[in-house]
Amino acid sequence: MSDTQFDAYKETQPRAVDLYTQSLSSLAGGVGHDLRMGHPLPLYITHAEGAHKWDADGREYIDYGMGNTAIFLGHAPPEVLKAMHRALDSGFHFGNDHPLQVEWAELVQALVPCADRIRFVNSGSEGSMLALRIARAFTGKMKMLRFEGHFSGWHDGVGKGAMIPFDEPVSAGIPQGALDTIKVIPADLHRVEEVFKTDPDMAAVMLEPSGASWGTVPLTVEFNRELRRLTAEYGVLLIYDEVITGFRYAPGGYQEYAGLTPDMSIHGKIIAGGTPGGAVTGRADIMQVFDYTGDPHHDRYERVHHLGTFNANPVSAAAGIATLKRIATGLPHKHADRMAAVLRQGMDDILYQERVAGYVYGDVSIFHIYLEAHPGTGAARRQDLITSEAGILKGIPKEVVSAFQKLLLARGVDLVSYTGGVTSAAHTETDIQNTLDIFQDVIRSMVKDKIIALLK
Ligand SMILES: Cc1ncc(COP(=O)(O)O)c(C=O)c1O
Repeated sequence: MSDTQFDAYKETQPRAVDLYTQSLSSLAGGVGHDLRMGHPLPLYITHAEGAHKWDADGREYIDYGMGNTAIFLGHAPPEVLKAMHRALDSGFHFGNDHPLQVEWAELVQALVPCADRIRFVNSGSEGSMLALRIARAFTGKMKMLRFEGHFSGWHDGVGKGAMIPFDEPVSAGIPQGALDTIKVIPADLHRVEEVFKTDPDMAAVMLEPSGASWGTVPLTVEFNRELRRLTAEYGVLLIYDEVITGFRYAPGGYQEYAGLTPDMSIHGKIIAGGTPGGAVTGRADIMQVFDYTGDPHHDRYERVHHLGTFNANPVSAAAGIATLKRIATGLPHKHADRMAAVLRQGMDDILYQERVAGYVYGDVSIFHIYLEAHPGTGAARRQDLITSEAGILKGIPKEVVSAFQKLLLARGVDLVSYTGGVTSAAHTETDIQNTLDIFQDVIRSMVKDKIIALLK
């Protein structure tokens, strides 16, 4: 940030400037998560309630990030807080199994179609790591098939595929041995079958069933149905990454929504009511890889070893139980989905009115906004822009994404990341209307500054 920019922010966000200055000499990279790097300051949030949050300078935001999509009932729902307080007052961490873990597992089992058995972990990334280990142990095969643009955590085992260019590692520091276990292809069923026919070492395909990055690059139910058929035919395990779609697309996640049962699914975020937690769920015969049989050779060499000090910690279990009980009613979805539908339609109408080369899309309580960069090609008709190519939908230039986020934030709207967001059971019609007014203002400003293209 230049000195003049810094001075301007000192006027409007003095506390954030101070915190960021301090962070630069204490936090590695200045922030706690790559995507929290700000425009140009990170947000420093002090409290949140319902669909709103407030920063350290007292600025209020309508929140469509909702804790990286982990919060579905709204921030700080009273029944979740009450359950967490009860768990805190009871000692909060034992390093032993406890009754809440069993209740939590039974709720997950009742909701998620493939959840014959559950193993809790502490995050979506841990779930992803463990699922790959289970798949390898169960099949005796070592490779994983992934689709371009799909994100399944930050660990080495999914170290390529999420980010353009899709065949390059997402990070420095990933061993070639790990990269060699990952095959990344476009989400094309002919290519899938070709891989299954030619590579006998393919243990599993793991994907976000909604499409890459929670549906930024959408996939259809028909695609998923055919993938289910192909994986079954070729004996390759099908793993749904339901870290975002789980409990959101329907109480039982994408699998319930689509009427398809994968062999395993991984979960995080909503499963623990927006607290640290996650799980791998799967078919009973597959999940037997955790069982001790009493045979010393099997127990030492053939079962899956999995530890974790905080697995199913009581506070996360309590938050998860309180949240899933409401999720099970399906009522939060009815509301959140309706709010997102109104928002998507309203934003799309605004893009149309303003003649902007872009469109708004998404399923259930999710919205994504595609904006053509200026000077982009634009298009004669909006229909000509509509694409499902990962390189295009995940490839909106950084300058466009960052201008969009920055203008929204300055007016009090926060997104998940990129150009999309989620609604919750706590968003109101007033929130949606206020967001649409802000969105229109932002779009007009981007058109005026020639950041985004107009229809030809
Ligand atoms: C689809 C998907 N899978 C896995 C993860 C990793 O989850 P976590 O951040 O809890 O490690 C995320 C995180 O955003 C995700 O969106």
